[in-house]
Amino acid sequence: MDSSKYDYCENFDKVHGILMYKDFVKHWDDVETFQARPDDIVIVTYPRSGTTWASEIIYLICKDGDVEKCKEDVIFNRIPFLECRKEKFVNGVKQLNEMVSPRILKTHLPRELFPASFWEKNCKIIYICRNAKDVAVSNYYFFQMINSYPDPGSFPEFVEEFMQGEVPYGSWFKHVISWWEERNNPCVLFILYEDMKEDIRKEVVKLIRFLGRKPSEELVEKIVQHTLFQEMKNNPCTNYTTVPDEVINQKVTPFIRKGITGDWKNHFTVALNERFDLHYEQQMNECTLKFRTEI
Ligand code: A3P
Repeated sequence: MDSSKYDYCENFDKVHGILMYKDFVKHWDDVETFQARPDDIVIVTYPRSGTTWASEIIYLICKDGDVEKCKEDVIFNRIPFLECRKEKFVNGVKQLNEMVSPRILKTHLPRELFPASFWEKNCKIIYICRNAKDVAVSNYYFFQMINSYPDPGSFPEFVEEFMQGEVPYGSWFKHVISWWEERNNPCVLFILYEDMKEDIRKEVVKLIRFLGRKPSEELVEKIVQHTLFQEMKNNPCTNYTTVPDEVINQKVTPFIRKGITGDWKNHFTVALNERFDLHYEQQMNECTLKFRTEI
């Protein structure tokens, strides 16, 4: 099914059947053959699932709660984006190769595109996921913010593309299912955005333990306070406002936008919601991972 408008967008291409930015695909070998190091920490998400929030938390855990260390640079330099590539401006692989260990990195790759080296080196992998409806809404705004993206059209039109997986990184359903299959791998920790929203302290403790550290009350509190929605929204090191408007136009909508569970209710009509639920059931009926769309 190649009727999607994104197939024809000059900025997109496919890699192993999955839609991706052309600039990333041009040098895909570099991603596929990426050399992991045993102490790498990898944050994996489908786009707009809470990557930035989790990233800042994980960075702070690794810096023993030293907030000053977070102010040393913007988040996308402290935690490079593996597959991100744009001519001479960004090269995630190069950034990572030049980085001293221990490294923390982020990627949006589905399981099938994830570089083998991370498994071979037994790296710690943290998969953050969020309910599909809020992810669709957040991506809809994201598409409007990124200048190199095609116009997502109306919300129902966009949801159709999202359901068919004709968006960058492909199907949310396949992404989540492919990673859920790794849930029993001791190297992989699953975290749900909705659980973070409901009880952030509990999820921070989970992350601290997974990273082999001790969750003192003081450490947890420092992390929670520093990564509050409003803090991160106002923080130039986490809110992407240092990226020029020509790349991310936050006049349209801010990168750190609403940060809630259930914003989908403000966007889905009853009919669209019914159609989405039906599709969801078809795609996810065999998946034991259950999401909450409200908390
Ligand atoms: P919304 O668009 O629904 O507001 P990512 O970092 O993967 O791109 O995810 C972006 C989403 O995470 C956005 O969702 C953003 O507002 C939300 N987010 C970012 N920081 C957050 C925080 N500290 N608390 C809650 N949500 C946050």
